[in-house]
Amino acid sequence: LKYTFGEFKTEIIISADFPEISLDKNALIVADENTAQLAAKLCKNEALCVLKSGEENKNWQSAEKILSEAKKAGLARDCFFIGVGGGVICDLTAFAASVYMRGCRLILVPTTLLAMVDAAVGGKTGFDLFSIKNLAGTFYPAETVYMPLAALSSLPQMEWKNGIAELIKTAILSGDDFLDQLLPLLSPPYSQNDLLLECIKKVAAYKAGVVSEDLRDNGKRMLLNLGHTFAHALESVSGLGSISHGEAVAWGIVRACELGRKLGITPDAKAQKIKTLIESSGFNLAYSYDSEKMINVMKSDKKKKDGKLTFIVPDKTSAYCVILENESELNLLKNVLDGKIDN
Ligand SMILES: NC(=O)c1ccc[n+]([C@@H]2O[C@H](COP(=O)([O-])OP(=O)(O)OC[C@H]3O[C@@H](n4cnc5c(N)ncnc54)[C@H](O)[C@@H]3O)[C@@H](O)[C@H]2O)c1
Repeated sequence: LKYTFGEFKTEIIISADFPEISLDKNALIVADENTAQLAAKLCKNEALCVLKSGEENKNWQSAEKILSEAKKAGLARDCFFIGVGGGVICDLTAFAASVYMRGCRLILVPTTLLAMVDAAVGGKTGFDLFSIKNLAGTFYPAETVYMPLAALSSLPQMEWKNGIAELIKTAILSGDDFLDQLLPLLSPPYSQNDLLLECIKKVAAYKAGVVSEDLRDNGKRMLLNLGHTFAHALESVSGLGSISHGEAVAWGIVRACELGRKLGITPDAKAQKIKTLIESSGFNLAYSYDSEKMINVMKSDKKKKDGKLTFIVPDKTSAYCVILENESELNLLKNVLDGKIDN
């Protein structure tokens, strides 16, 4: 798969096994404690920078460590940064590559399902700063993204679920046929197989297609936030880290369907199909928190438009963005957050 994102060209190579990466230039591999062994399978003689794992280490200190190791390894501008890991490592490595000597070459090897279907495609880089997620970052797509499914064999089930939620999200956006194709994949325990490979290909292609029209997130890319306004509010009100991102996104997608249904946008049958699919994938839909608190979090969400609450809701074929303008629409939102989901 080859894509152009603005001035950048990206090739995505999806395979069952680990690729052999041979380079004609010096490189720095960046991994975390859990992916350093995978990195060793891909590249033999390159310098290796191992970071502590987890979102709590997606910070400036880690970015600085990568830059410092790059300098120690003597990297020049035509050299490579290679990120081998989940979304945290991909975002950090891509950020470092984008600023080191004003931009080096970048290869990403996502090793979580979430990073394959989302983080490694589309060129958003960054790290958390002043307790705000992804406050600092750049747009800097990798020149090559390798997605070896073999990397997923050591992935814990909880991490699989984070990726499955994003896979479902993109399938909803790209249409009913893909949702139907996805069905056999969606019952835990999850593992890699040929169908998964096909689905990752489709999701990566869909996301890359959207991003190639809107690298800098000024329009169409917003669709990829389906379920996320609800998810961020749930994650925040329940205490960051207590509900996994995938659980929150899955819950958020079902709430977005319910809002869409109440607004007359999401067909009943589609909302029901999505809910059934998400339930059978093992996600919990029973979270219930104070709706006023959640709405306050939504109002401070960085993605709100001109101070108004915006949501992506599924429609007949894909999804679109609605802006809640008046009291009665806000009441609908409150009902969705308060109420049980109708069958
Ligand atoms: N840039 C983007 O467009 C974009 C999109 C979505 C998410 N993200 C970012 O991605 C991050 C989340 O990514 P994530 O869910 O991959 O989390 P992660 O990178 O923290 O990985 C999750 C855990 O799995 C471990 N791990 C990774 N690969 C493994 C493997 N193959 N076997 C065993 N363990 C493995 C990691 O060490 C970590 O402990 C967030 O910071 C989010 O902001 C970025």
